[in-house]
Amino acid sequence: MNCCQCEGIETLFNRKLAVRELKKYRRKGPSQTTRLLIGALQAEGVQGLTLLDIGGGIGAMGHELLAAGVSRATNVDASTAYIEVAQEESERRGHGDRVSYQQGDFVELAPEISPADIVTLDRVICCYHDMEALVGLSAQRATKYYGVVYPRDNRWFKVARPVINLFLWLSRNPFRMFVHPTAAVDAVVRKQGLQPRFQHNTALWQVVLYGR
Ligand SMILES: C[S@@+](CC[C@H](N)C(=O)[O-])C[C@H]1O[C@@H](n2cnc3c(N)ncnc32)[C@H](O)[C@@H]1O
Repeated sequence: MNCCQCEGIETLFNRKLAVRELKKYRRKGPSQTTRLLIGALQAEGVQGLTLLDIGGGIGAMGHELLAAGVSRATNVDASTAYIEVAQEESERRGHGDRVSYQQGDFVELAPEISPADIVTLDRVICCYHDMEALVGLSAQRATKYYGVVYPRDNRWFKVARPVINLFLWLSRNPFRMFVHPTAAVDAVVRKQGLQPRFQHNTALWQVVLYGR
């Protein structure tokens, strides 16, 4: 990742935001789109499978799927604060020994990251400029299922993205948001031998589960 985006991630996804998200998660559970992806995975069956959650944030995907029967999880996240908060929450929930954490840019770390039965990127593709590398390398590591939540390339995000990026620029944060074309993301995933099994669109996001 270019160092500006890394710096931006550390500034934006900081401890304060992570703690706020964790409190919300404890009160209300995972977000709607995370729940949709978890539901689609559970419908396929997750018992005993392994999970690689890229950009896992506070770890909601991992916490929920470990409780649902996943055997082990790995959370790779570029934000130091989110990794720390996710790790603390795993210990609190009593499954700390079944989760491993790696801080950094997944694309750079990819050669040392093992494949998993399930690979998820929940609202992460929009944080990264090189979609082909992020999606291609992560899909390659999914031995059974590949789940993604990413922005729809509809008019809402076409309007929202420049506004969000202007706000980030005004607040001197080098982080930028990206809306990659759906057809391009889908083509990269299919190139890795995966086919869609579930799709649900909300006004802003698309939730897609692929399988081998
Ligand atoms: C919008 S948050 C989503 C967090 C969580 N998946 C969720 O849905 O609540 C995006 C997360 O992806 C991480 N991230 C972005 N690009 C990344 C990359 N290239 N490698 C690893 N983590 C990344 C950020 O640090 C951040 O924690």
